[in-house]
Amino acid sequence: MKLFLSALAAFTATSVVEGCTNILVTPEASTSNEAMIAYNADSASLYGSLYHYPRTGGGSRDLYDWDSGAFLGSIPEAEKTHNVVGNCNEVGLCIGETTFGGLEELCETFPGSKVDYGSLIWVTLQRASNAREAIKVMDNLMQTYGYASEGESFSITDSREVWINEVIGKGTYEKGSVWVAKKIPAGYVSSHANQARITTFEWDDESKAIYAHDVMSFAQKIGLIKEGNGVEKGAFSFSDTYDPVTFEGARFCEGRVWSFFSSVMGEEFEKEYVDYASGFNLTNRMPLWVKPAEKISLSDVFSHMRNHFEGSELAFDGDVGAGGFGAPYRWRPLTWEYGDDTYVNERAIGTQQTGWNFVASVRPSMPTPMQAVIWFGADDSATTVRVPFYASATELPLSFVGKGPQDGVVPPMMIFDLNSAFYVTNLVSNWAYSRWSDIYPVVLEKIVEYEASFISQLHEVDQKVLGLINNGQQEEALNLMNAFAQKLGNGFTQQWFGFFGELFVRFRDGYDITPNSEDPECGCTVGGIGYNDATYGRIAEETGDQYKEPSGDDALKERQFNPKNKLKVRGV
Ligand SMILES: *[C@@H]1O[C@H](CO)[C@@H](O)[C@H](O)[C@H]1NC(C)=O
Repeated sequence: MKLFLSALAAFTATSVVEGCTNILVTPEASTSNEAMIAYNADSASLYGSLYHYPRTGGGSRDLYDWDSGAFLGSIPEAEKTHNVVGNCNEVGLCIGETTFGGLEELCETFPGSKVDYGSLIWVTLQRASNAREAIKVMDNLMQTYGYASEGESFSITDSREVWINEVIGKGTYEKGSVWVAKKIPAGYVSSHANQARITTFEWDDESKAIYAHDVMSFAQKIGLIKEGNGVEKGAFSFSDTYDPVTFEGARFCEGRVWSFFSSVMGEEFEKEYVDYASGFNLTNRMPLWVKPAEKISLSDVFSHMRNHFEGSELAFDGDVGAGGFGAPYRWRPLTWEYGDDTYVNERAIGTQQTGWNFVASVRPSMPTPMQAVIWFGADDSATTVRVPFYASATELPLSFVGKGPQDGVVPPMMIFDLNSAFYVTNLVSNWAYSRWSDIYPVVLEKIVEYEASFISQLHEVDQKVLGLINNGQQEEALNLMNAFAQKLGNGFTQQWFGFFGELFVRFRDGYDITPNSEDPECGCTVGGIGYNDATYGRIAEETGDQYKEPSGDDALKERQFNPKNKLKVRGV
């Protein structure tokens, strides 16, 4: 997703995209041999709904721009389509994305183009059966009907192959797009976040890279790179040509990739690329993928998506901007002015503007209808529980399912609804933001508990569904997958609202109020530790003697009867 930040205009003289983070894990890099894509859909105007496209076929398919909801046109529908739940389909294909924008001139849409990046995701999921086929379908859609979005990196996985496909339109020069897709080598993980990351690629090895035939010649044609002898195929870099790294590209975008890579690669990697991630050495580019020393589990991926640079050089939970409770959050805009200077806020993976997030897990060991499971969270990836849904499910819980601007539907953003996973999850998130160091540890413990329970519940249901499928009982298997979705989804929304209630009772009015059955007054103990030490230090520094108590009241010491300390008087 993208979000234009007018405040940046003065800074860069261009618009800057702010959007999504993707993590990609090959089956051979995962502890349970599953392919995984993690994705945060980041835009403050995005409502957290699980999109569902039932099987259909024939007739025509209307296309709307995912960002604006504008009608782009109709194309013929395929003869038969797959069931799609969120960003996965019933045959084990999942697709995520991140907007990189790219050269301003190529962000202009060729007149009459119908296929925006949202349509590319959902139409492709409806039509394609594996990652390579998806790349072909996407190319066909873009070149046939025109590409109507800015530069995009797509994460594409089936149960065996994980690909990054980077695409940019041809502006008003020509209809369609140019693109290059690279397969992540077995045993490696990758990540991308609002910055094109593919540089050079193999021109003669389809097992490693696939590309638009004119990916380089188009750049030559419009003068982006020198014509004729000036360019060697092997030296042609997609990212350097179509989305060169800038300070913002490094700091706001590659920084997130760096924080994930550092978490799995360790301190040496972190140090090696910190100058790049912070935007001060743009030539020190990170590799497209890394091989972690240890394999990564589903829970690890959940945890990496909760990252806010904690403990690294880009940590921002300790300075004055973090407030009295060490919050790794800064309200937007992303840059701000003071005096004659422009400053940045850090852009972390876990962020308030995430509308919804998922970790898709595709399991090669399972029969096709059970392969893709989408673990879906309806808000910030750091503060939500991800609930698992089989991508074959055809009946999804009302508290999660919904349409969006990509369907030509305005979502119920302006209606507060306690039966909506999005609003219930936002209650917990926003309460946590307000007193992070007090509330978030409690929330995190609960998230981890829920996710562990959902993992074991999924394993149990897997065995039952597997038994039915092996027994030829396809319909019963589907019913079970549907029942699981309903029970877990709606159950979660109710229970999470109950949890918000507990948090509210406990952390009301700046206190920490815990149950105490011995206490006859409220059945509670009222605690609370005020602000953190650093904050008190800053207040004292800034205000001098304004709040300082005089020391030593000698007159009092002489008295026989002392007044009660006011701090011990009820209600003070
Ligand atoms: C930037 O990174 C490159 C590649 O690692 C390195 O050779 C160069 O010395 C760095 N530049 C500065 C100014 O640190």
